[in-house]
Amino acid sequence: AYEKLWLALSIGLILALIGTVTYGAVGPGVAMVADTQPTIDPTALDEDERFSEPRVEQVGENEYEAYVVARQFGFQPDPIVVPANSTVTFYITSADVIHGFEVAGTNANAMVVPGEVSEITVKVEEPQEYGLICNEYCGAGHHVMEGKIHVV
Ligand code: CUA
Repeated sequence: AYEKLWLALSIGLILALIGTVTYGAVGPGVAMVADTQPTIDPTALDEDERFSEPRVEQVGENEYEAYVVARQFGFQPDPIVVPANSTVTFYITSADVIHGFEVAGTNANAMVVPGEVSEITVKVEEPQEYGLICNEYCGAGHHVMEGKIHVV
C-alpha cells in the first residue's frame, strides 16, 4: 500500500515540476509580445480605428494626439491644426512606401515606415505655420510631397 502512495506522490511531484517549467517558459514569452511595438497593416488603414480618419484629438488640458497618414504624395490631415501652448504627440504611419515626417525649421523628424507607427512628441507655443516635409525618397512625386502644420 505504501508503494502506491509513494508512486502517487512522485507522479504528483513530477507534474508540479512540469507545471513550474511550463509556467516559467510562458511567462517571459508573453511579456515579450506585450513589449513589442504594435504593427499595422498598411493596406487596411481604412479599418484601423486610429488611422481610418486621420485627425487631431484632445487627450488632456493642453495635450493632443495627431494621427497622420503619409502616402504618395502627401500627408493627411492637411493642414494638421493644433492649438498653441500645447503638447502634441504625432502618431504617423504610411499607406505605401517609406516616407519622412520633418517639421521644417525644427528638430522634429521621424522616418515613416509602412507597417509601423512612428511617434514623436512636440511642444508648440506661439501661433505659427510650419511646413511639413517628406525627407525620404518615396517615388516620382517625392519632391512635391509636403504638408502644413497650423498652430492656432
Ligand atoms: Cu514621401 Cu518622399
